[in-house]
Amino acid sequence: MANDASPLLPIRIVPDPVLKARARAVAAADAEQVRTLIPRMFAAMYAAPGIGLAAPQVGVGLRLTVIDLMPDEKPTPIVLINPEIVAASDALATREEGCLSLPGQYADVTRPARVTVRYQDAEGARRELTAEGLLSACVQHEIDHLDGVLFVDRLSALKRNMILRRLAKEQRQKRDQAGGR
Ligand code: NI
Repeated sequence: MANDASPLLPIRIVPDPVLKARARAVAAADAEQVRTLIPRMFAAMYAAPGIGLAAPQVGVGLRLTVIDLMPDEKPTPIVLINPEIVAASDALATREEGCLSLPGQYADVTRPARVTVRYQDAEGARRELTAEGLLSACVQHEIDHLDGVLFVDRLSALKRNMILRRLAKEQRQKRDQAGGR
């Protein structure tokens, strides 16, 4: 476990190349790293705050993501290791999405309304989850991260470029203000 003194893991922001890379499967040899990483990922996600965070977003190229939708304001952490979508509904759903790697940017994204995901939990047990609504969108968004895909990659080129330009401008302004020049 990370102790309380562990500094927060910094979250990578677009255009960091780690966000475009395909992550590799978590193997038995990664167990120690993953055990340390999971609580630190939750800490970074809650602090942001966000409802999902994938390992590439903290610079780690492993197929691991953490999610907590905090239903009824109660922490309900979900750890997905090597998640795989094994079924997706024909029915689609559109929701507004955002991403900690594209701070301040939001857009409507259309995805299958319901998905079934096979994964291993933090203890390595094989599990299956069928998700609808916000959880479905969140799970798909996070699994996309493991393939180097961002929610803006699911938009038209016009919409994507508009968002990426706006993000770059806002990040530049933030840096200028922080640097005082
Ligand atoms: Ni994201």
